[in-house]
Amino acid sequence: MGVSGSGKSTIGKLLSQEFNIPFYDGDDFHPKENIEKMSSGRPLNDKDRQGWLEALNDLALKELKKSNCIIVCSALKQKYREILIQNIETQSEWIYLSGSFDLISKRLNSRENHFMPSDLLKSQFDILEEPRDALRVDISLSPNEIIKTIKRVQTETTEFGIFGLGVMGKSLCRNLAKSGFKISMYNRHVVDTEVEVAKNFKTQFSELSEAKAFDDIAAFVNSLQQPRLILLMVNSGKTIDLVIENLLPHLSENDVLIDGGNSNYKKTKERFDYLKSKNIHFIGAGVSGGEKGALNGPSIMPSGDKEAYALVQPYLEAISAKDKNDLPCCTYIGSEGSGHFIKMVHNGIEYVEMQLLAEVTTILEALGQNPDAISDTLGSWKNAASSYLLDITALLLKKKDNDGDWLVKKILDIADNKGTGNWTTIASAELGVPSTLVATALFSRFISFYKDERRQLNKLFDKNETSELNLTSTEILEAYQFARIINHYQGFKLINEASNTYKWNLNLSEIARIWTNGCIIKSILMQDLVETLKYNSNLLTNTELIDSVNQYKSAAKKVVQQSLLNDIATPALSEAIQFLNGITTTYSSANIIQAQRDFFGAHTYRRRDDDSGKSYHTIWDKLTNNY
Ligand code: 6PG
Repeated sequence: MGVSGSGKSTIGKLLSQEFNIPFYDGDDFHPKENIEKMSSGRPLNDKDRQGWLEALNDLALKELKKSNCIIVCSALKQKYREILIQNIETQSEWIYLSGSFDLISKRLNSRENHFMPSDLLKSQFDILEEPRDALRVDISLSPNEIIKTIKRVQTETTEFGIFGLGVMGKSLCRNLAKSGFKISMYNRHVVDTEVEVAKNFKTQFSELSEAKAFDDIAAFVNSLQQPRLILLMVNSGKTIDLVIENLLPHLSENDVLIDGGNSNYKKTKERFDYLKSKNIHFIGAGVSGGEKGALNGPSIMPSGDKEAYALVQPYLEAISAKDKNDLPCCTYIGSEGSGHFIKMVHNGIEYVEMQLLAEVTTILEALGQNPDAISDTLGSWKNAASSYLLDITALLLKKKDNDGDWLVKKILDIADNKGTGNWTTIASAELGVPSTLVATALFSRFISFYKDERRQLNKLFDKNETSELNLTSTEILEAYQFARIINHYQGFKLINEASNTYKWNLNLSEIARIWTNGCIIKSILMQDLVETLKYNSNLLTNTELIDSVNQYKSAAKKVVQQSLLNDIATPALSEAIQFLNGITTTYSSANIIQAQRDFFGAHTYRRRDDDSGKSYHTIWDKLTNNY
């Protein structure tokens, strides 16, 4: 397409020869009344054009039944182009021959016996609506250079595909394109709700000008060089399996599918095994950092087979965030679903960090601080406890609603969740690991869900708000820091236990390193853990952390004690202390549990004075009849 004189017929005929496909000049399809009108110097109106455009659309539909074709037509307005590609939107490509008024006017007027009144050419430029989703070619190039450009773009396969253009998918496309990769983008076509998503997205950002956009799966897959690398950015669960089934018929051996969603690690292993049986590689990659992180550099946690990782490594490491040594916050995590497992634990740690910030905010509010003051208090903690979540919480507290009041005070106090915290708690229970803080944070969200019951019970139970509440910012900070150390200890303990159980041989220090930037739980604490975890998988045996815990514990107890006496709910801050007390108790009360179990269930017990592991059972005196 293009204005008169942009070279449509010349280029169309050359392309036809180059690709050996039929060529049609749209002007040959005008009805005779249009020809008569134009010959008499009267411009066509949209009504005249309607029939003509429909005739060209019919021609295209007919030709596409056989193979394909090239049709040249000025198609200056978007609505003309929509008629021309009606019902073949996903099978048509626009090539826009773009040139300046002066260049085209000069060319036209230099032709013998061909004089185009400049006002006629001007009227074309006046109504031209440049296409958003066309391959734009500058006609200052020679015809051969134009053909070469078109051929390169049309036949050139791309090197990386993104399937699913939701918030994260779009950000990752832009990140990949900005990083210089030739990508293909796909989004499904859903009547009325998802129409030409990829094509429209492509037109919104200059970095996508070379990207290919599809809503046809076959065309999308065929646009990719082999072995194909396809990143799936779709909802976890059944959707992934449906997408895999839709892709499989178009894939070839050794192609790689990467699941970048928050999928369950067990399902990732199943998909890995299923696709392995079809000689397709499957990588489960946790991606953390939200929309901005995906755009500017997420933390990426890929797992699967190393051979497949080697194929995707250049792309994932290029787009990932970088650590303080400018190394990618992306590394091969391990086999099977270990990448999604640690992403799940990442979210578990995230839940607790968020819960702790919510609790310290509650305490600071109870001390009489308004959201602005609380924000300033959290901001004053930046040196000691800097983290992405601390920073955003300080920021969001200051946000005002349209009426000037604090927005946070208007947000309904019912916390949602997408399930990753549940999975972490379930995984902990299945592995027998006491991740008590993520469970506490998760169940705090569930408690918040029962808003009506909370309102009802609040009326039935007195709240004691008269006890002393006299805490300094430093004391609250130390309680917060105390609980964060326990949180990170529990998170890495869970990963380590899973690594041993599933024989993943995970590198805890490397995991901490890729969490030092790009992800939601990045913090200066995480920076410190990179070194710590090189030598010890149990953070509570590290001297510096022991010293910190001992230093913070008295403040933590004071904060929890005063909150408790004032009936302020601080489940995570409290649990952190209780957990430490439990995990540092040499002789716990579990002996009573064992005795009870043996009493009523003869479940046996072991003795402290017999380390052979022998099991004992006692016939305990029967209880009197009145039990
Ligand atoms: C991340 C986030 C991301 C998502 C959360 C939401 O690492 O980028 O964790 O994965 O926003 O999973 O979790 P909830 O909805 O469960 O709070």
